Amino acid sequence: MTNIQLIKSPFSLLDKEFPNDPLINIATNFYQSVPFYRPTPLVELKHFAHKNNLGKVYIKDEAQRFDSRLKAFKATGGFFAMACCIAKRAGLPLNKLTYQQLQSPTVKNIANTLTFYTATDGNHGRGIAWAAAKLGTHSVIKMPAGSTKLRAKHIAQFNNSQVEITDKNYDDTVQYANKLAQNDPHGILIQDMAWQDYTEIPQEISAGYSIIVTEILDQLTKNNYPTHLFLQAGVGQLSSGIINALFSSLPINYRPTVIIVEPSTVACYFLSAQKADGKAHTVSGSPKTIMAGLNCQTPSSISFPIIKETASFYGTLTDDVAIAGMRTLAYPDGSDPVIVSGESGVASFAFLNAAVHNLKYRQLLNLDSSSRILIINTEGDTDEHDYQEIIK
Ligand SMILES: Cc1ncc(COP(=O)(O)O)c(C=O)c1O
Repeated sequence: MTNIQLIKSPFSLLDKEFPNDPLINIATNFYQSVPFYRPTPLVELKHFAHKNNLGKVYIKDEAQRFDSRLKAFKATGGFFAMACCIAKRAGLPLNKLTYQQLQSPTVKNIANTLTFYTATDGNHGRGIAWAAAKLGTHSVIKMPAGSTKLRAKHIAQFNNSQVEITDKNYDDTVQYANKLAQNDPHGILIQDMAWQDYTEIPQEISAGYSIIVTEILDQLTKNNYPTHLFLQAGVGQLSSGIINALFSSLPINYRPTVIIVEPSTVACYFLSAQKADGKAHTVSGSPKTIMAGLNCQTPSSISFPIIKETASFYGTLTDDVAIAGMRTLAYPDGSDPVIVSGESGVASFAFLNAAVHNLKYRQLLNLDSSSRILIINTEGDTDEHDYQEIIK
């Protein structure tokens, strides 16, 4: 199999307006009220950019999000969505939601009666368990067969959470968590993907991810706004959340070219672009990849339409390309900083790291010394053992 693949979107991209999404403002205000909230760094890889004849390469480092026990962007979504759920149960209006309101004894008593159920291959569940402890509520986390014990242990470290590795695949684990939530009168499913009839909480999760964009736009001057945005996708909620936040904040002529990147063995957006019938397609079977967070066979129902209308390219990469990307960031050239980037976290950078050496793809993407590239490192060494093995 070729190491990377790239195709142009077959869909007609719409220069449509992205109206201001009120949930994005609510999420921004909420995070401003959280005492332990800090923006994550936006790092520039000057040497890498120069060496590869690119203008600028910026990496938003989500490995440093909130708490050193998390190491991934995921909690930005789960924490905000759980806060919204608790606020609604407590009858608080969402439009002025603050962390302090959720810490009042009355609201905490309500939070304490609730249990949030979810399925996860690691990062989402870790974020939910952490948020449950912060908000004084409870979580039950189910992991698919094959999840590593270390990832389960990372989730179990937080108070108020139960975790189990099941014998089911990911999709069946989601159904299992859903059933448990439905059978519990105080249960709420908090899943990081949407399907028909399950959209409200995923919308809130995506809105929570938008804090990443709010920070980036503060961290960059206008003349450094990106020309290219590479986004790694599992079910696509991160990508659609980022695109929605960015496109609703920027004038149309500032919109970057969006490239969606997935593991070659489980590329449901790439497959849907290849089929080109405008519908979302599922990758069948039990695909394998070291990019565990991206091992998702079906696009999220709220993300597919957004990505279809905005992404110009779809790319795939093999595990060895991801490994090369992790090593490049772990052992940078020149004075570039070290970035700890895990298997899924590195996917977009790893794709770029390979694409810069491919003339055809460089041309297709219009990559040159005037390009300003934005990438999100979505996780650090979330499995420390595997990370060390890979980079040694
Ligand atoms: C580290 C990491 N990056 C990216 C993603 C992709 O997010 P999404 O499934 O919303 O596309 C995930 C999902 O779990 C992840 O864990």
